[in-house]
Amino acid sequence: MLLDGLRWAQLNLAGLLPEAGPRTAAATLTLLLLLLLLLLAGTPLALWSGRDAAAIPGPGYCLGLGPLVSHGRFLWMGIGSACNYYNRMYGEFMRVWIGGEETLIISKSSSMFHIMKHNHYSCRFGSKLGLQCIGMHEKGIIFNNNPTLWKAIRPFFTKALSGPGLVHMVAMCVQSTITHLDKLDEVTNELGYISVLTLMRRIMLNTSNALFLGIPMDESEMVMKIQGYFNAWQALLLKPDIFFKVSWLYKKYAKSIKELQDAVETLLDEKRLRLSAAEKLEDHVDFASQLIFAQDRGDLTRENVNQCMLEMLIAAPDTMSVTIFFMLLLIAKHPNVEQAIVEEIRTEIGDRDIEMEDMQKLKVVESFIFESMRYQPVVDLVMRKALQDDVIDGYPVKKGTNIILNIGRMHRREFFPKPDEFTLENFAKNVPYRYFQPFGFGPRSCAGKYIAMVMMKSILVTLLRRYHVQELEGGIEGVHKRNDLALHPDETGASLDMIFTPRTPGLLRQP
Ligand code: HEM
Repeated sequence: MLLDGLRWAQLNLAGLLPEAGPRTAAATLTLLLLLLLLLLAGTPLALWSGRDAAAIPGPGYCLGLGPLVSHGRFLWMGIGSACNYYNRMYGEFMRVWIGGEETLIISKSSSMFHIMKHNHYSCRFGSKLGLQCIGMHEKGIIFNNNPTLWKAIRPFFTKALSGPGLVHMVAMCVQSTITHLDKLDEVTNELGYISVLTLMRRIMLNTSNALFLGIPMDESEMVMKIQGYFNAWQALLLKPDIFFKVSWLYKKYAKSIKELQDAVETLLDEKRLRLSAAEKLEDHVDFASQLIFAQDRGDLTRENVNQCMLEMLIAAPDTMSVTIFFMLLLIAKHPNVEQAIVEEIRTEIGDRDIEMEDMQKLKVVESFIFESMRYQPVVDLVMRKALQDDVIDGYPVKKGTNIILNIGRMHRREFFPKPDEFTLENFAKNVPYRYFQPFGFGPRSCAGKYIAMVMMKSILVTLLRRYHVQELEGGIEGVHKRNDLALHPDETGASLDMIFTPRTPGLLRQP
């Protein structure tokens, strides 16, 4: 190939420089030869730098151009879209570079299963400066990449998100949904259209606050701050170090981050005051007080307590609000599914509100939730790091390799009978859990996976037994989405509002 290039250069030189003397031509040829030597010298470097992943498909190193282009693609397209692009180009187990580090993008269930179940993949990755900027570097849980610190923090979350908390959440979700539906006018515009995303974010924040913190707050203000924080997190997670050298580039993100951090700190200060004035501490044993007690014992720093609280407050509004928004759009588009859900609510629950005991009985609602998360996911990928050398599906994986599990793509490529269609048939038969992982699994899986299911069922049932939902034009396919850290609708473009029509009480039918 290089010789072909030289021959081409010689011919073109002759054509381009007809009146150049033999001296000029010779000098130019020498220059070209030098370039060739440089290229040849660069090739071993390229081969060397990719030697351990030689068998893994992916773009070439090309004197460092490959890593630059692949990192650039992540920044430009968004993480989720870049992963889909690379899996399409190079297959379901492939390699790119992010920040110069080898990064695997995997959408094969067998490899995913291996990674999720093993402890030596229980770390994530991201720009250290970016994580420091958002307060997640070695703090909180979600992107805490220090295995020892993460291990100490995770039990606070699992405890709060299971057991009695899970049971209390049902009544809290029902109550919060009813209260927010009673003041729908706050999220309805002059045409009668409802901002479902705002409604859901308020319900999520309200229930999270009730269960995990218990301090009154201005919900609408806090929802905006959470939005700002999420945008900063998404924007900074993979930024190259050079970005953080120019303060005006990240100033606006730093401002949004600080706004939420300050708000959470104020809420926790109030919580500390209430705890110190409380007569019986047993009445206050929630997530926030457990964190504060751990700080008093010297087990957690104040910054860590603040970050854990912040992450617990953002977890549901960031994931569940958009998930339920997509679900309502899917219901609006599939009246037969709506009918089946409403019928199940009528036969299994009747006219009362949903309770914990109903959860197992709601098979249609559950299949609908699963199929929605499969067909239109919000959390499309999982980021991990290899903490030791390994071999996955025959490929060598070195310690320190970054890994992105492209779960959204896996859900559309394996097992399901109609992968590109939204249909409850996809969950008609039992789905082996290695083929369906919307929450991940294993030691670093979603800490909120059980409570998320309980919340989604409670909110959907409470809403659908009161309202029939309709989309405005475009529906789910018409919503412009960006697939980055999460797959979210673009809220700057066309309206995302919906119409809610009250059902006749007792009949669970639209008027
Ligand atoms: C539809 C709703 C949700 C989805 C699809 C979802 C999905 C996920 C996924 C895929 C992960 C990464 C798992 C992995 O690395 O294997 C995760 C992590 C996490 N999720 Fe969720 N999640 C949801 C709701 C929630 C809720 C409601 C909470 C808490 C209130 C929560 C708390 C967490 C936490 C704390 C982590 C980090 C766990 C760790 O790093 O140890 N999630 N979630």
